[in-house]
Amino acid sequence: MPNLQLNTDRDIARASTLPAPLYFTPAAFEREKATIFASTWQVVGHVHQAANPGDYFTFDLVGEPLLIVRGDDGVLRGFYNVCRHRAGNPATGCGNRKLFRCGYHGWTYRLDGALLVTPEFDGVEDFDPADFGLAPVRLEEWFNLIFVNLDPEARPLRESLGELPVQAEKFDFRNMKFSERRTYEMNCNWKTYIDNYLEGYHVPSVHPALNREINYGGYVVEPYPQYVRQWTPIRGAQPGDATPRRYESGQHSGKDLTADYFWIFPNWMLNCYPDNVSLNIILPLALERTLAIFEWYLPEQDLGGEAAAKALAFSDEIQVEDVSICEIVQKNLHSRSYLSGRYSVKQEKGVHAFHQMYRELMPG
Ligand code: FES
Ligand SMILES: [Fe+2]
Repeated sequence: MPNLQLNTDRDIARASTLPAPLYFTPAAFEREKATIFASTWQVVGHVHQAANPGDYFTFDLVGEPLLIVRGDDGVLRGFYNVCRHRAGNPATGCGNRKLFRCGYHGWTYRLDGALLVTPEFDGVEDFDPADFGLAPVRLEEWFNLIFVNLDPEARPLRESLGELPVQAEKFDFRNMKFSERRTYEMNCNWKTYIDNYLEGYHVPSVHPALNREINYGGYVVEPYPQYVRQWTPIRGAQPGDATPRRYESGQHSGKDLTADYFWIFPNWMLNCYPDNVSLNIILPLALERTLAIFEWYLPEQDLGGEAAAKALAFSDEIQVEDVSICEIVQKNLHSRSYLSGRYSVKQEKGVHAFHQMYRELMPG
């Protein structure tokens, strides 16, 4: 094994990257679930998935089964999808219900989680159904996205987002409509994918088509306490320009043509282009298996049109390139020759910021 002095310095110029074993050690993964994923705001869906009273969907949040439902009173609520009798499942999939009946022995819950029916339970002592409602989780909304936090003491979502809502405002995500969802399963640790997302250093080598659209020299990385903003001017086509561009100059006038990539600790991103926004949720399925959920949002008039198909095909190409390099890196992290690396001060501020946030919650 290499004999390296690992430096966890706050100064990127002196710091080393996270040690490789954190990317493939079961104990590290268990700790991440308990400390990182159980204490941060996690996107679980979009309000279009539960628009009307009784609409519900289930979501597996890194092993925690959740149920999101809109009550008769119009309030959106989150619960653990775990029956209080003997841990059956009160709900499956998604749909619309008046009540939730557990598939094991028929305990029945109201949409607000209260326990209503307990078949053949006469004679049970010291049992008050009021104590056996579905266990709630905290739920908040922002920009039509639904978030939960498993930590009852967590600070409000808005506080953790800091300046992001203002920075994302110009993309008008709020008024865009859901277009399509795609999922990608990858053979890598979730952090391998996040690390890769947080730098544009690899764009010229890994994403030649993307590199033609952006001004790589103008790529800016701005770390904030709980998120990282990466943004880059877009090269709009100029008269006489021989290279085909996705955006014409003058198109989307009145706005600066930029692509802004927001990553919010630990595992979700908003990729904002002038004509579409995509949401990524990166969910560990296992230590070295990760699910990326991609959702595209577009202005209503573009839904189902050519712009939608183009945005999706372009994003899909980039994703395939990223998955491929992440799977190679994941394999190589196991090599006896590698323990840790260093950061480019110019290009890898985002990766360093992520690792600092990670070290804060996972000390030692
Ligand atoms: S586990 Fe749900 S009714 Fe028994
Ligand atoms: Fe990439």
